[in-house]
Amino acid sequence: MSLISTEDAGIVIGGRRLASRYFLAPLAGYTQLAFRTVMREQGGMGLATTDLVLATHLAHEHRRSLELVRTWGEDSANCDRPLTVQIYGSQIKDMVRACKWLVDHGYEAIDLNMGCPMAKINGNGGGARLMCDAAGARATAEALVNAVNVPVTIKMRLGWDRDTITAPELARQFENVGIAAVTVHGRTREQGFHGRVSLEGIAAVVDAVSTIPVVGNGDVLTPEDALRMRQVTGCHAVAIGRGAMMDPWIFRKLAQMTQGEEVTQPTKDEQIGFLRRHFALMVELHPHDCCFLFRKFAAWYGAKLGIPEELEDRLRKFESPEEFEQIAELIEQRHGERESLIPTALVKVPNGPVEHW
Ligand SMILES: Cc1cc2nc3c(=O)[nH]c(=O)nc-3n(C[C@H](O)[C@H](O)[C@H](O)COP(=O)(O)O)c2cc1C
Repeated sequence: MSLISTEDAGIVIGGRRLASRYFLAPLAGYTQLAFRTVMREQGGMGLATTDLVLATHLAHEHRRSLELVRTWGEDSANCDRPLTVQIYGSQIKDMVRACKWLVDHGYEAIDLNMGCPMAKINGNGGGARLMCDAAGARATAEALVNAVNVPVTIKMRLGWDRDTITAPELARQFENVGIAAVTVHGRTREQGFHGRVSLEGIAAVVDAVSTIPVVGNGDVLTPEDALRMRQVTGCHAVAIGRGAMMDPWIFRKLAQMTQGEEVTQPTKDEQIGFLRRHFALMVELHPHDCCFLFRKFAAWYGAKLGIPEELEDRLRKFESPEEFEQIAELIEQRHGERESLIPTALVKVPNGPVEHW
């Protein structure tokens, strides 16, 4: 396969046809409805997944969980399809209840988190901890597949640590019980976000399964990284997390490459339009804490959107929609004055098995 491929762009997962093989990876605190919507509007994204939602809270309709699974209705002018909801938990019965709740409320696909390294989630037996108990992980997967008639997928890491690389064997077992696809972040839980993603580790999972798609994940910051991950590992699709926040046009560029078109960079108007549109969606969806929720995107967006450092700093602190607009106008006037092309957030990527992302 050449790096630039004009192969069939789409992929079928559990009977669901996705128009592109490049997906938005879940990023808790970021991949909520406003971000998913504005990202989809840039084109080329095959699938988005919600932030992880605690199964038991969802089944009991806790306010925060309902907020996390919020999406647009069929009659909305906005689009948030195709969408997968990611759940996590440690008790099978809670997870089954959450899956049934989701199907009853019209959601089309469910992803189970077996990759989260956070201590508070692992401590209860959720996230990556499930990977340590092959029989339990398999039983959980089987129970969810049997409980609902929508595709169930699993997102995991390579294993708990380098002596416990369980992903290939688990993927095989998940395939046997009817899991529709697995996503593999090519690091162990112990690594957190340290070191480089192991493409060999992802390739071993691809080799372990017979027919289900494997979605590779980790450290894809450019379209070329995504194509390389597919080429080296043979994975069928790629999930992109931080790289999408650093370059919101990464999916569009991948679509252009896949279709053999010239790759275009966003214009200044597109960059500033993106910033304003994302914030407008935040205001609509989170009228009371739109500023607070938006501020943390500044460190990811600054470099790609040509925002001078000083204005990026202001975007990290602004207090009102009026102040946002003032800053946006200044960005328009001073666009491109930025000195560093390295996103500020890259300097502060979370490390280790962390308490906080
Ligand atoms: C801030 C942040 C939040 C994350 N939240 C989730 C999550 O809710 N569910 C999940 O499966 N992975 C989560 N991840 C992991 C990402 O989905 C992804 O596996 C990881 O960041 C590696 O991919 P990337 O290099 O493309 O970002 C999170 C990562 C970050 C940095």
